[in-house]
Amino acid sequence: MKRTANASLKHLNSFAVDATAGQLFEFRSTGELDKFIQEHGFDPNRDLILGGGSNILFADDVEGTVLVNRLMGKSIVNDCHDSSTDTEVLIDVHAGEVWHTLVMWTLDQGLYGLENLSLIPGLAGAAPMQNIGAYGVELSDVLDSVEVFEIESGAIRELSLPDCRLSYRDSRFKSVDAGKYLITRVRLRLNRVPRTNLNYSGLRDELTAMGIAHDALPTAVQVSNAVIRLRQRKLPDPEIQPNAGSFFKNPIVSHSKATEMAQEYPLIPVYTLSDKQSKLSAAWMIEHCGWKGHSMGRAAVSSQHALVLINRGGASGKEILELARLIHKSVFDRFGIDLQTEPLIVGADV
Ligand code: EPU
Repeated sequence: MKRTANASLKHLNSFAVDATAGQLFEFRSTGELDKFIQEHGFDPNRDLILGGGSNILFADDVEGTVLVNRLMGKSIVNDCHDSSTDTEVLIDVHAGEVWHTLVMWTLDQGLYGLENLSLIPGLAGAAPMQNIGAYGVELSDVLDSVEVFEIESGAIRELSLPDCRLSYRDSRFKSVDAGKYLITRVRLRLNRVPRTNLNYSGLRDELTAMGIAHDALPTAVQVSNAVIRLRQRKLPDPEIQPNAGSFFKNPIVSHSKATEMAQEYPLIPVYTLSDKQSKLSAAWMIEHCGWKGHSMGRAAVSSQHALVLINRGGASGKEILELARLIHKSVFDRFGIDLQTEPLIVGADV
């Protein structure tokens, strides 16, 4: 357990915004967390629970305590690889583990399912919050259950996959139950037999560029390497250009709206989700409003990817949010689409 008063949050958020917290409390066990909350209480309007800080924008300081999750450890729960009928393997990962390190560890163990999710920044505990997803796979494809600490009662509960109510970049932890639970552990359902997922159109091209024959079945490690290459090329590195990944979600619209958009803008990427809904490319709309690579003071839109806002050095959260609001307005004025932000905005309404 570690406590620091008036702590800078600059190194605890991937936007590198220099906000401060009244107090920082790092906990390494649920016992430490329980004791702290019993002594000090927890008010979601004053205090905040932080994971890796890779999906958050501090538009203001945090008056109360920032509780930093340092719950570490990962293990294989059951391993059926001796059985010819069941190749599934459950693994438990504590919330403070770094996501990408976990993905590499699973590949080293010969466990498959996370390869398309390589190099996603952040901690394992944050993965269910926004149902992380990339290159054709979402956490919901591999999640078995989540262990949570209920803040009000201090009880530890197990929530099944349906109980987590995961959807595109959303969950009960981010919406209806925000501030109610702290995720302590995730249980993932992986496989000893690779189930290669090449649904993302650019993945096969990347594998071909790596010298893997077009008709060959790539290994999970090769898929992971292709995803890493794609991410490194398409997305700015938060260590060099501080950012929180996609700042906006791809909007989900009705088929009639998608058809209307596709007729007016034949080049806009449209992805069919169901017989009622489609997803439109927010990056395409933002780029077509002229924002890609555009700077506004110390905040900017990445020149690599129009969905990513970057801190050019010393930007405040308010400056980044101001840029986001202008982007939102221009997309709404031009396309009639109300973009939703992906990161949690602290200290301001969107
Ligand atoms: N595009 C543009 N301009 C750009 C970037 C993209 O017009 O600057 C268009 C292109 O037509 C491109 C298409 O958008 O083909 C799709 O781009 P991309 O494959 O990068 O996917 P995305 O929909 O923009 C989503 C996720 C990313 C994830 C990628 C790959 C969201 C909000 N973002 O982006 O996730 O890496 O798919 O699966 O769903 C994140 O959440 O932080 C994140 C980076």
